[in-house]
Amino acid sequence: MEYTFRILRFDPQTDESPYFQNFLFETDLNKSILEALMTIRNEQDGSLSFRYSCREAICGSCAMVINGRFDLACRTEIQSLNSPQIVIEPLPNMEIQKDLVVDMDPFWKALHAIKPYVQSNGDIPENGYRIEDREIDKIFQYVNCILCGSCYSACPVVSRNEDYLGPAALAKLLRFVKDPRDKRLFADYAGVSTKDGVWGCHTIFKCNEACPKDVRPADGIEALRRKMVVEKVKSLFRINR
Ligand code: FES
Repeated sequence: MEYTFRILRFDPQTDESPYFQNFLFETDLNKSILEALMTIRNEQDGSLSFRYSCREAICGSCAMVINGRFDLACRTEIQSLNSPQIVIEPLPNMEIQKDLVVDMDPFWKALHAIKPYVQSNGDIPENGYRIEDREIDKIFQYVNCILCGSCYSACPVVSRNEDYLGPAALAKLLRFVKDPRDKRLFADYAGVSTKDGVWGCHTIFKCNEACPKDVRPADGIEALRRKMVVEKVKSLFRINR
């Protein structure tokens, strides 16, 4: 079977604007989009640029837009697309560095802002932490995030407000706030109670659609909003957490 890969190309050093280039790719095997891109690069155009690492849907680096849908190139099988033409585009909302490689600095900056790691108070149990299943259940959905950037890229609020933290960072914040090992206080994350933070979300749910791991970041933002309201009321009535 012959497929036409219509790939968005752009080299800011030499091109005035992005353009599509067609490549023919022939296979009767059920190859992944990533395997096809690697073959095209190896056999047809060595300058074709894209990111990948694990090839097992774990690292998140091969996220791109495939026939209009956000997905990981390494886990998308060509035959599953049921189309002889496959359009490949880089993640939107981020500047193209070259072809399918985008500048993810704004995404990492937003993530860094919420301090995405467990903040203990130094009181670590001698035999380590033991977390109950019901506590794991509260955060498991968000632990699955592989930081591929698809949700950030799909978010219409990010496209209009570059200061908005975006779905991945806010859902990740909830993941730590709900983690029983994390001892951060409301005052430590109350700063995201702004239009650039938790109240910036317009609940359009594009992030839920885009996530290749079913993390449903919009659910996390909603839960974080509820938590912030509760904490705010508590703080007004001076009730300790
Ligand atoms: Fe790691 Fe695709 S290469 S997720």
